[in-house]
Amino acid sequence: EKGDYKHFMLKEMFEQPDAIRNAIRGRLDFDMGTAVLSGLEFSPRDSALISRVLVVGCGTSMHAGMVGEYAFEEMAGIPAEVEQAAEFRYRNPIITPHDLVVAISQSGETADTLAAVREAKHKGATVAGICNVVGSTIARETGRGVYLHAGPEIGVASTKAFTCQVSVMLMMALKIARTRRMPRHEGEEMCRWIERLPELVEKVLEQNDAIKAVAEKYAKCENAFFIGRGYLFPVALEGALKLKEISYVHAEGYHAAELKHGPIALLQENTPVVALLNDIPGKDKTLGNAEECKARNAPVIAVVSEGDEEIADEFNDVIVIPNCPPSITPIPTVVALQLLSYHIAAARGCEIDQPRNLAKSVTVE
Ligand code: M6R
Repeated sequence: EKGDYKHFMLKEMFEQPDAIRNAIRGRLDFDMGTAVLSGLEFSPRDSALISRVLVVGCGTSMHAGMVGEYAFEEMAGIPAEVEQAAEFRYRNPIITPHDLVVAISQSGETADTLAAVREAKHKGATVAGICNVVGSTIARETGRGVYLHAGPEIGVASTKAFTCQVSVMLMMALKIARTRRMPRHEGEEMCRWIERLPELVEKVLEQNDAIKAVAEKYAKCENAFFIGRGYLFPVALEGALKLKEISYVHAEGYHAAELKHGPIALLQENTPVVALLNDIPGKDKTLGNAEECKARNAPVIAVVSEGDEEIADEFNDVIVIPNCPPSITPIPTVVALQLLSYHIAAARGCEIDQPRNLAKSVTVE
């Protein structure tokens, strides 16, 4: 039930602190500086034998996988790739017995992701699932994996599943990293940041009214861009997906560096650009890209880290994200973009929980 909330999406966005609390409960081992994910059933030796991680999924789940890709490489030092599940299943992927294939699916029923799981198993990979729906087909067929425990997600636009998927990917990367090169003190610090995720998300949710005011300024736009780099590149893609699916605004997510290779031609004074300028490596470059957008008269909504507000002075609007390390920042940042999309869609009078042409679970290919 929606309770006091106007839409399931709104309720589910506000449930995120609790959903993440449930996703991490009992899974952080501060003494060893690692994560305990019993469903993964990896011994340290199994873990040491993994030579590559391949993440498959669709839509929002694929975007969560992209954050995981960065985390696996940065934290665990394992080559990682993410692939759209349909592409993976049909391109005859090269898989070795030392590959770990991670399938991400909220519903656990997405046809292409399920087919990718079957293909990977058939080719001898170790396959793990990250699902929300308990007992779903992907959860059953992978046999090992991690449940989100996010509670039912009813809104077609995925919100709490994404933040819980990323939380679980971070714990998975941490667990594998600690069997490899990551020292215990770094693992402990990562545990502390993961434990703080619900509080970081709460700080963003507290800005709901301010984000609504920004959204209402841009509710009439027909095109929008989201740009970011590194850990925030997938967040730019996810921000654009959220906006297009619920508000029908044509939105594009781009790597900030890619803008000048074509899409910048579309910028004009009624095309807002959401620039993810949080304090992570590459921030200064994205700042330069945002300035290029401004020079084309596009309004810029700057998303910045707390304490960095002055870099937003030259832009039209600002949303402030609490300080945290690069691997953690996708979670609070995406929440700001979910709220922005929601309020734009609400101002446009859209049917938010049931967008046209979409189903919650895509069980046909
Ligand atoms: O259930 P799944 O996570 O496998 O679903 C994948 C996509 O269909 C889903 O994330 C979709 O992109 C959402 N509507 C996005 O909000």
